[in-house]
Amino acid sequence: MSAQILDGKATAAEIRADIKTQVEALVAAGKRQPGLAVVLVGDNAASQVYVRNKRAACAEVGFFSELHQLPPDTPAAELLALIDDLNGREAIDGILVQLPLPAHIDEEQVIERILPTKDVDGFHPYNVGRLTLRMPLLRPCTPKGVMTLLARTGRNLEGLDALIIGQSNIVGRPMALELLAARCTISVCHSRTRDLPGKIINADLVVAAVGRPHFVQGDWIKEGAIVIDVGINRTAAGSLVGDVDFAAVAERASWITPVPGGVGPMTIASLLENTLQAARLHVAG
Ligand code: GUN
Repeated sequence: MSAQILDGKATAAEIRADIKTQVEALVAAGKRQPGLAVVLVGDNAASQVYVRNKRAACAEVGFFSELHQLPPDTPAAELLALIDDLNGREAIDGILVQLPLPAHIDEEQVIERILPTKDVDGFHPYNVGRLTLRMPLLRPCTPKGVMTLLARTGRNLEGLDALIIGQSNIVGRPMALELLAARCTISVCHSRTRDLPGKIINADLVVAAVGRPHFVQGDWIKEGAIVIDVGINRTAAGSLVGDVDFAAVAERASWITPVPGGVGPMTIASLLENTLQAARLHVAG
């Protein structure tokens, strides 16, 4: 088998074009444009790139966006006060605090301070709880983007054995909730999992979110499996590679996401979808 490519770059471009059309219709109807506030604390190089890409996507679809760039030693109280202010501003539908935060700031406290209807990352316990209970409101962006890509395969996911490598709050856990809601049988594996290859070989669907370049080997994969690579790792030479040994895994998988051009652009597309959804919650009529 040689895998078909799940093209996140093309799919995300289609989603952006659709959102742009919806924003034009909103504005033509006299409504205000959706607004996203992006908060970046410190000078993490990768975060700066992600934030730039997110704001460029906002501009492309016609959203208002503003960046709040704070120094690395910003006191937590100052960040919380900024969130209170953004929670109260009518022009702001979504608040995105780029993670990770500097070590002296409690991430959970910051996330909980965001109004759940402005939590376009879907990280607030309210939104995670709603996803857990199969009544989602704002859904975490990366897993949501993966579900959009999986829908593009046309494959019925019900009953598939899905295995997720990684248990983070951003990807692994909400991914498990999404796939459970889609009626997969789920396994969540992590650094303490025993015999990982022995488990992966039985999976119909593998989502890799480990943050280790080319970690998932070709001979770990069941023939015909769907393989989703969430990893974005920069090599010493400066290129981007995923968590999956793409060439070897593509020999056995039925579908595979490339890196770059797979899940990454879908995360941003989901953020735009969530911000538009939040705007519709905030703007009556
Ligand atoms: N850091 C890595 N991924 C994400 C994400 O999806 N949202 C935020 N806010 N921070 C991140």
